[in-house]
Amino acid sequence: MRIVVAVALLLSGCVPAASSDRTAAMQAEAVDPAAGPLPVLVTTRELMGGLTAFSAHVIESIATSTVSKAPSEWDAVSLAASDLAAASSLMTMNNDNVVDNMRRSDGHWRLLSKALQDAALEVRTAARARDAAALLAASSDIRQACRSCHAQYRVHGE
Ligand code: HEC
Repeated sequence: MRIVVAVALLLSGCVPAASSDRTAAMQAEAVDPAAGPLPVLVTTRELMGGLTAFSAHVIESIATSTVSKAPSEWDAVSLAASDLAAASSLMTMNNDNVVDNMRRSDGHWRLLSKALQDAALEVRTAARARDAAALLAASSDIRQACRSCHAQYRVHGE
């Protein structure tokens, strides 16, 4: 029965009209600068397993390699550090997950996210200066920042 009604609505043009109104409203909001930043549509878990872990892996594997680094590797480290700095900002923004937002409402979470961001910026500075010793030290600060937060907020794992 429902299908019949839906088909009838479609044929009468009601559904396309309603949805095109909605589309128009969404488009109007999308171009409105006053609407603010786009919503964060990733959970903390996805942010960790994706952008955060990927960029930290790039940094650590190049930082700890004893082989002399090619210009493209320095550039990759620098870009990965920028990614990690951006991920740290995202960590402090609410999404639509209740548990994630409960953690974020705690000021200590922000502090730990900032510690990671600071370490990422140290890495970027070292990579731009082509300074291998500074890079190694900053990379270990990153690892420490991951551990400090996990010790407090992550239920499973390191
Ligand atoms: C501000 C806190 C915080 C920082 C900083 C942080 N993490 Fe996490 N991380 C978490 C929390 C909380 C979880 C558990 C999320 C969940 O399961 O809902 C997590 C989970 C993870 C996971 C598991 C994801 C999965 O799919 O289960 C990985 C991998 C991870 N983090 C990597 C990292 C790395 C690498 C760093 C440092 C570069 C880092 N995290 C820094 C809070 C943090």
